[in-house]
Formats: sequence, structure tokens, C-alpha cells
Amino acid sequence: MAKQEDIFKNVVSHAKEYGFIFPSSEVYDGLSAVYDYAQNGVELKKNIREYWWKAMVQMNDNIVGLDAAILMHPTTWKASGHVDAFNDPLIDNKDSKKRYRADVLIEDYAEKLNQKAIKEIEKARVRFGDAFNEAEFVATNARVVEYKAKEREILERMARSLGNDDLADVKALIEELEIACPESGSRNWTEVKQFNLMFGTKLGASADSAMDLYLRPETAQGIFVNFLNVQKSGRMKVPFGIAQTGKAFRNEIVARQFIFRMREFEQMEMQFFVRPGEEMKHYEFWKEARLKWHLSLGLGRENYRFHDHEKLAHYANAAADIEFNFPFGFKELEGIHSRTDFDLKAHEQYSGRKLQYFDPELNENYVPYVVETSVGLDRMFLAVFATSLKEETLEDGSTRTVLKLPAVLAPTKAAVLPLVKKDGLPEIAHQIIADLKWDFNVAYDEKDAVGRRYRRQDALGTPFCITVDHQTVEDQTVTIRHRDTMKQDRVKIADLKSIIESEVSMRNWLMKM
Ligand code: GAP
Repeated sequence: MAKQEDIFKNVVSHAKEYGFIFPSSEVYDGLSAVYDYAQNGVELKKNIREYWWKAMVQMNDNIVGLDAAILMHPTTWKASGHVDAFNDPLIDNKDSKKRYRADVLIEDYAEKLNQKAIKEIEKARVRFGDAFNEAEFVATNARVVEYKAKEREILERMARSLGNDDLADVKALIEELEIACPESGSRNWTEVKQFNLMFGTKLGASADSAMDLYLRPETAQGIFVNFLNVQKSGRMKVPFGIAQTGKAFRNEIVARQFIFRMREFEQMEMQFFVRPGEEMKHYEFWKEARLKWHLSLGLGRENYRFHDHEKLAHYANAAADIEFNFPFGFKELEGIHSRTDFDLKAHEQYSGRKLQYFDPELNENYVPYVVETSVGLDRMFLAVFATSLKEETLEDGSTRTVLKLPAVLAPTKAAVLPLVKKDGLPEIAHQIIADLKWDFNVAYDEKDAVGRRYRRQDALGTPFCITVDHQTVEDQTVTIRHRDTMKQDRVKIADLKSIIESEVSMRNWLMKM
């Protein structure tokens, strides 16, 4: 089995064993691509959400928050284009009976070409050492040029075919590339068909009067329909943003890879309303700003890359993904989209109400353009969790499993451990907890030998273990053990708060942006 698959399996089982994520309704054997966040997962998820909210809403004078309802008037989705265009092109393999997204099959093929090019570049880097000129090599090496050209040609053709709704050509491309079913290896494909991803539901008690509704497939539309309410009540001046976090629902067909692609998930979105014609400036700004936010968490620059879209969604004039190096390769983590005035104009048209802004500097009314940043909270969770999970071999040859979460996101910031369950040590530990819990999420643990308790907290990602021993009774000091280095310091109980604060405060982490 490939190593990457092993890592991913570990991630899934660690998440379950240590109370981060369970399959939904597991007593009934679960529900495909739906998950529950358990006692530690819910804390980590909340911390990621707060880290985003702090950076996006509270640190920006011109961005405010919103919490729109999941259920919206059904015309919203007609106007937004989701009823007609929120489709995935699907293809079935006749032998394995497995269903795939045709565009994903093609993109995976193109990514293999990209990986081949990267391999050539890396080989050359080793061969030429310091003298290596990557740009020149990429432009002149016959193999790299060929791989890159083929990759581009395939993606451009797919974008064209999908843009023209030419599904026959999408199938023709799959056949020409000889793409086989990943499950059975067969190339016996059906036609490609469009499939709408929205979940339908009903509003109202009686069958006759019930109104057909959709569960929202993105949080963004709640922001668009409230644009003027927020602008007027908040006296906001363009450019300004509205941000929200919340659930979204998509009937994903290829729902696998754990919480990467779910049917019920959470988004953190921000719509930035700008003057028409100025959108590209803001688009570039937000691309960089969002990457900086990700980098501030310290998961490694090499784990991120931009992917500029060839195939644009129905509402966008420019779009890029921030891709992350998940255990199964680089995949989309966040989207940054220049959505033009598509949504506001469509809501004007369908509602008959004006959704315009009077710009006092220009002395004119216009429908603002919108730059959107949209990141999946669950995908962020997976990125952070999977990258932080490490197996380490220690100096004495033993191993430990440690979840090296960014301390600012860790579910529990400190565990307080009495060395023994007697001699007044538990009482002192409880006093320390009673004080620290006003500022941090802290835990008490007295079961098992202290070494095992350290290991348990390492696996939960707790940055600090505070041990109360007999010396504590004498001089009001404790040992504080750092998760990543396992280094232990003797400190005063009175200093604990500031020691923990300096490593977990959002201020210190966000200052790195
Ligand atoms: N409002 C724009 C929008 O929804 P998107 O690219 O479809 O754009 C934005 O989604 C982000 O939401 C993605 O980058 C991803 O992080 C997350 N996301 C989308 N579908 C998801 C799913 N089925 N499961 C988990 N996260 C998902």
C-alpha cells in the first residue's frame, strides 16, 4: 500500500480514537460523507472559525459579519444560477457501476503530467546543484515542455467543452486519453450527464400548499440578498466586505476522502463589494492576504500553491484556488473569485428591487462588483489535523504519536496533572484549573503514570502539561512540559497564565501575517 494511503488511514483512525470526528449516526452504520465533530473536534473547529473571524471581521474596519438563515426564498437559487447551472458532469463505468465526475477524471490525468514535469525538474535540480536555473530548464527541456503543453491542452479543451455544454466532447476526451476506471481498470464508459447538486426540501404542513425549497449550497447568497440592508444599516462605504460562516449542503456524487468532500459542510466566506473596474486590484489583494493567513499557522510554505482556473464558474471573471498538500496530494482548500456584478444584478432582476450603491465620491449609483474569498472549515480542519499528526522516534528508541497542532488552534491548551492522587496534590491541581479556565480550555488528568498521561495529551495536541508534585506544596512551583520539544521547566504557579498566553494568543499568531 502506498505510504500516503497509510498516512491518511492514520489520520482517520486517530480522529476517531481521540474524539475528534465520528461518522454520522454510526449506530446505523453511518451516512455516507456526513460526519459529526466530537468533544475535541468541536473545539478545534471552533478555534479555526474564530481564527478566521478575528482576521477577517474584527481586524478589518471595513468588514462586518452576518449570520443568514440556511433556508432562503427559492427564487434566490434561480437568480444565482444554481437551479440551472450548479451541476457536475457525471460519467458511469458500465463494468464497475461506479460513478465519477468526468472533470475530476480528466484533471487527475492532467495532474499526473504535471507531476512528471515536477519529477524532471527535481532530478535536474539535484544534477546541476547551485548552477540550476529552473526557469530556463522549464522553458527548454524537451520533456518538461511536452508534459506542460499536453497538460495545458487537455485542461483548455475540457474548459471549452464544459463551457459550451459539449458533454460528448468531454466523453471523447476521456476516451482519447484512455482514462480507465480507477476501481476496475475498465474503459467501458456511459455518456456524460449533468447532475444538479442541490438538496431539495419542503416548507409548510400540507402537501398542497408546501413550497419547494433548497438547502443552501453556499453561504454567499445570504450575503448578496442582505447587501443593501447591511450597507444602509451599517452606513458602509464601498469598498467593504460582509463575512459569514455557516453550513452548506451539496449532494456530492464523488464523496470520499473523509471530511474533504462532504454532503453537509461549513464554509467561511467573505464578499468584498468594490467599484466596477477595480475588481482585479482587490482580487490580487485578497489572493495574497488569504495566503498570508494560511501561512501564519506555520504548516509550511511548501504545502500551499495557487491554481488559477481555466474553467470559470458561471459567475466569475477570474478565479484561483489556494491548494493544499493533503495526504492525497494537492487539492483545493480555498477559492478566491472575482464574481463581477453577476449575483447582485441577477437578484435585482428576479426581485424587481434595486440593489445599488450611491457612491458619494463619484456622485453616481452602481451595482458593485464582488471579490469573494471562500474556504471550507472542514477542509481547513483536515489540512491542519493531517499535517500536524506525527510519529516520532525519540532518543531512547521509543516512539510517540504527537499532534503538533498550531497552539492557537489546539482544543485544550493545558492539562493539569497531579503526580499522585494523594498528599493534597489533586486539590492544588483543581485550584490551578479553577483559575486557568477563565482564560483557556484546560483539562484535569490523574489516571495512569505521568508518562502515559503526557503521551495521551501529545496525541490530543495539548501544547502544555502542568505537573503538580510534592515540591509544589512547599514552594508553589510546578513543572510545565512543552508538547513539541518535551522540554520541562520549573515555574511559579502565578506565571502559568502568561506563559500559556504567549504561545496561544491569536494576537501573536496573527501578527505573523
Ligand atoms: N461561494 C463560492 C463557493 O461556494 P466553492 O469553490 O464551490 O465556492 C468554496 O466552495 C470552498 O468550500 C471550497 O474551496 C472548499 O474548501 C469548500 N467546499 C466546497 N464543497 C465542499 C464539500 N463538499 N465538502 C467540504 N468542503 C467543501
